[in-house]
Amino acid sequence: MPLLSLRNVTKRFGGLVAVNNVSFDVEEGEMLAIVGPNGAGKTTLFNLINGVFLPDEGTIIFDGHDITRLPAFKRAPLGIGRTFQIPRPFSSATVRENIAIGAMFGAEGKKTSVDRAMEIADHYIDLIGLSEHRDKPAGGLTPVEKKLVEIARALAMKPKLLLMDEAMAGMNPKDIDYIVDFVRKVRDEEKIAIVAMVEHIMRAVANLAERVVVMHQGAKLVDEETEKALTDKRVIEVYLGKPPEEKNAEG
Ligand SMILES: Nc1ncnc2c1ncn2[C@@H]1O[C@H](COP(=O)(O)OP(=O)(O)OP(=O)(O)O)[C@@H](O)[C@H]1O
Ligand SMILES: [Mg+2]
Repeated sequence: MPLLSLRNVTKRFGGLVAVNNVSFDVEEGEMLAIVGPNGAGKTTLFNLINGVFLPDEGTIIFDGHDITRLPAFKRAPLGIGRTFQIPRPFSSATVRENIAIGAMFGAEGKKTSVDRAMEIADHYIDLIGLSEHRDKPAGGLTPVEKKLVEIARALAMKPKLLLMDEAMAGMNPKDIDYIVDFVRKVRDEEKIAIVAMVEHIMRAVANLAERVVVMHQGAKLVDEETEKALTDKRVIEVYLGKPPEEKNAEG
């Protein structure tokens, strides 16, 4: 059984069909990228999986539970973690405390003591390479370091599925490579599935994802192994007739 299954999921905003009859599966430990031009429905799809929106039609099954109409706050304890596009750490709290907060609200939930939460935080601080910032206020970090803390906070919740919302938007290639390496390491060590919404950052898609779902005008256009998806004629066409590599140069 797949970890996550979307079946014929549709979401409308008034007369606009933002997500149109979309179905796909995510297997345990799999890395899937969801890409597509502006307005394709990526963010809406993301918000249907994490419960910010409920679909008008279709079903969403996660780890054996029908979560189609489950409120967002009940999804995290089942093992759906997410990062936010713009990290907002508690600025005066330390890096360690920020990540520990994730552990306290995660899948281990009420059973997690403060000591245990700190222990989990230390594990992820070492993993993201921010050990020397452990006891510094998170507000003083660079934007990339804040992004890493945001990912660590989500991981400390011990999700089975991590949803990453444009985790690399606006970053330079060096930072993208660093985050991609980190995410891969985490995937390999923690065996969690990762679904990333990626905006035009083909460098990240090519290095990170095993499979790519390409959205176009609310519908699923292509669902294939990464290399096949990125060289698919239909995909190149929706990116304004440009090969995806050229988009990379534009960031
Ligand atoms: N809350 C909302 N109310 C009304 N329309 C919305 C809402 N959210 C999204 N839409 C519309 O739904 C469509 C899909 O939007 P969505 O944000 O999911 O696309 P996207 O693929 O994330 O685009 P982008 O690459 O620009 O982030 C767009 O036409 C958008 O204007
Ligand atoms: Mg979006």
